[in-house]
Formats: sequence, C-alpha cells, structure tokens
Amino acid sequence: MQFRTTSAEATREIAAALEPLLRPGDVVLLSGDLGAGKTVFTQGLATALGVTEQVTSPTFTLAQSFQGRMRLHHLDVYRLDNLGEVLDLDLPELLDDDAVVCVEWGEVVIPELPRDFLRVRISLASPREHPDIRMFDVDTVGPSWQARASALAEAWHVHSPSGVERC
Ligand SMILES: Nc1ncnc2c1ncn2[C@@H]1O[C@H](COP(=O)(O)OP(=O)(O)O)[C@@H](O)[C@H]1O
Ligand SMILES: [Mg+2]
Repeated sequence: MQFRTTSAEATREIAAALEPLLRPGDVVLLSGDLGAGKTVFTQGLATALGVTEQVTSPTFTLAQSFQGRMRLHHLDVYRLDNLGEVLDLDLPELLDDDAVVCVEWGEVVIPELPRDFLRVRISLASPREHPDIRMFDVDTVGPSWQARASALAEAWHVHSPSGVERC
C-alpha cells in the first residue's frame, strides 16, 4: 500500500486513522532515514490512543511507555548496533504486554518480532524541491494484519496501487 503526505499534520492524521484498527499486542515497525517522520507518525498514533504525554524521540532511553486506551511502548533502536542490545531491552516482555509497540529503526528487531506486524516505510520523495512530501510504503505482514489490509486501505482511502495524496 502506497501513499504520500505533504505535511507533518497529514502524517499525524494517517497515523490516527490507523488507531481504531489496533489491537493489544500489535507491532508497528517504522523505518526511514533520520527526519523521515517516524516519531511524527508515533505522535499521531499516541494522541489517537488518548496518550496525553508528549511523545519524543527517546534519545537516551531506548524505550518509553505511555498509557492510553491501550498501553503504548515506543522504541527507538537507532543507536543500537547489535541484536544483543536490543534483547537487553526486554523486548519479549514489551511484546507480551497486550500493548501497542511502535519501533523506530525496527529492521534490526525483525527476527525477534511476532510473525504479524505492520511495516511502515517512510521516505522523502524529493528533499530539495518538496521537503515536506513523504512517501509511505506499508506492508501488512502476517495473517492478522493481512486480514485488516482492506480495512486499512479504507481508513486511509488508498483505493489504487498508486495511492493517494494527503495534504
Ligand atoms: N509529510 C511529513 N510527514 C512527517 N513529518 C514531516 C512531513 N513534512 C515535514 N515533516 C517534518 O519532518 C520532521 C520529521 O521528524 P521525526 O518524526 O522526528 O523523524 P524521525 O523520527 O523519522 O527521525 C519533523 O520536523 C516534521 O515536522
Ligand atoms: Mg524519531
């Protein structure tokens, strides 16, 4: 599923539109370069979950937890260079907590994830000419997410493979 947003606010809105589809235990994997919008996406999700605290990039802590309609664990594994450190995060406990788990730079933890997760890849289309345009490439991985793929496309109004634009 592909689409693009043209502002940080639009990215927050598409993240908020995902929230009603989330269930306890869900994992959302966010990838994309520094400044792509992974934290902005997580902020939109957190607000929609009813989290009132400010979600920031957890620079010095690797994981932060928030309470909303469900708990939200926000992990940023940017500074980790090996899987050992990731495992030191108590990842299994966080994954087994009936919470929503959002992982920035999550590629390194894929081997440790449950078989079902939502993979959100964010990239800058043309950084110089259109610095606020972000391309989203979303994969529903595993049966639980595949079953929700059409509901997700509906929530995001993505009705064609070429996607839509959100302003
Ligand atoms: N379409 C967009 N979607 C998300 N963020 C955007 C967009 N356009 C501009 N931005 C800006 O890009 C930055 C994204 O930062 P952040 O979410 O912290 O990135 P990351 O967590 O991926 O490193 C923010 O300053 C945000 O305001
Ligand atoms: Mg970030």
